[in-house]
Formats: sequence, C-alpha cells, structure tokens
Amino acid sequence: MTVISIANQKGGVGKTTIALNLSYALAENGYDTLVIDLDPQFNLSFGILGMKLLDYTDKNIGTLLSKNSIKKKEIEESIVKINDRLDLIPSHLQLSAVEKMLVNAYAREMKLKNIIDNIKENYDYIIIDNAPSLGLFLINSLVASDYIIIPCEPSYFSIAGVQLMLDTVEEIKEANLNQKLNVLGFIFNKYSKQSKIPQERLEQLKQLYPNIPVISIIPRTITVEKAEREGMPVFKFESNNPASIEFLKLAKWVIENVK
Ligand SMILES: Nc1ncnc2c1ncn2[C@@H]1O[C@H](COP(=O)(O)OP(=O)(O)OP(=O)(O)O)[C@@H](O)[C@H]1O
Ligand SMILES: [Mg+2]
Repeated sequence: MTVISIANQKGGVGKTTIALNLSYALAENGYDTLVIDLDPQFNLSFGILGMKLLDYTDKNIGTLLSKNSIKKKEIEESIVKINDRLDLIPSHLQLSAVEKMLVNAYAREMKLKNIIDNIKENYDYIIIDNAPSLGLFLINSLVASDYIIIPCEPSYFSIAGVQLMLDTVEEIKEANLNQKLNVLGFIFNKYSKQSKIPQERLEQLKQLYPNIPVISIIPRTITVEKAEREGMPVFKFESNNPASIEFLKLAKWVIENVK
C-alpha cells in the first residue's frame, strides 16, 4: 500500500484534476484505490458526487479528523464507493473549522495517519488531494504519505513557489514526523506549445531542480474542464484526447515506479 499526496500551496495548478484522474486511472488498471479529499473547498468531492455530497454531512474526512479516538467501523462508514476499484472519503463544508479545532488536539499532526493506518490493507494506492495552503492539514497529509507529487503550471509564481513545498517536506523530515517521505516528482500541467513561455518555464523548473524528475507533462485543453464538470476522468470523457493519454501514461508510470 502506497500513500501519495498531491500537493502545492499554490492555487489552481491542477491538484484536484490530477488527484481525480490519477485515482480513476489506477483503479482502471485494476488497483484498489482510495482518494481522500482533504480540501475544505471540496472540489474533488463535488466533482465526483455533485449534490449527493449533502448526504455525507456527518460522514466525511472532517468528522473523522475531529474524533479523539477512531474506530475502524467509523472510517469504513465514511467511505463512498465510486466504482469496483475506487473509493472516496469526501470533504465537507465545515472542514476549515475542523482544521482550526485540530490545532489544540493531542498528536495533531498524526490524525490522518491514524485514520489511514486503520484501512490501508484494503488498498493498493491512497491518493490525497490537498488544499492550496501550508496549514495543519497539509502537515497531516505529508505525515501520512510515502510520496508527494508536486503539480505546477507554466507561471513564474508557480515555479517560484515550488521551493516552499520542498522546504515543508524537509521540515517534516527534520522534525522526525515522517522520515520516509519522498518527493516522487513534478507534474507540469497546462502545457501548451503555442507560445514559448511554457517551454521556458519547464526548462527553468528542470534547471532549478535537476534531481527531481518531471514525471508527466499534461497539455492544457478545455476537455479537462468539461470532463470535470461531468464528474468524470478525462479518459472516460474523450479517450483519444492528448490529456487522457497523458493521465493513463502517468498511472502506468506510478504503477511501475512506486511499489
Ligand atoms: N490540463 C488542463 N487543461 C485545462 N484546464 C485545466 C487543466 N488542469 C486543470 N485545469 C483547470 O484549471 C482549474 C484549476 O484546476 P484544479 O482545480 O485541478 O487546481 P487545484 O490546484 O486543485 O486548485 P486549488 O488550489 O483551488 O485546489 C480547473 O478549472 C481545472 O478544470
Ligand atoms: Mg483543488
């Protein structure tokens, strides 16, 4: 079982899109996959469940994180079955209040890890979608993860912001919160060949961090957004779209490189 955080404190770089498409693609390849929506904006949960999200007011990652002691049965009751191989623990409107409450909790950095430890034998992969912030939820996510994937987009601020994520990873290790946390790589999202800038930004990223691989380059295409609006992975929406091909390639890469 492998836990992967999709994280970047920068907003709008594609975390949710990648968490959704990678999770579906891993499940499509026959791997039992759980995706956890740890973002109070609940984009991933809403994308998948739509208005049905309202049915999970008392069964979501927020209710689990706010408990002092957690029972396996309670966790299992919060899991929503999406298809044969894919499960979701949804986010909820009240999740930001839970993050504030967690600040005073005992072992506050370990809460998510404790939840995951209870159910990890049930899955091959657990993917966590994170909020664009460097708060306590992100720390929980990184403490619970084996790997982090950092999505970026071809903007100056996105490239400049990567260092903050890498510093956070180092802080987690230095604080002995999770020694085995590893940066799996960058995903360069919203790539386009139409102008020179995306290519230049990609080169910049590679030059700045020569030891961190760019594991996938996802093209910018409106189809990604359209599929999301339908609550679907892009490869189910338009299988021959270049973004679909890239997401399926990404899943294959993860399966081959992450055991
Ligand atoms: N490759 C792409 N091509 C076109 N649009 C994309 C692509 N990837 C993401 N988008 C769109 O960009 C927007 C932001 O993407 P997404 O929500 O995945 O980012 P995020 O990092 O999760 O944002 P946040 O930080 O707010 O959680 C969405 O509308 C999404 O549909
Ligand atoms: Mg998001």
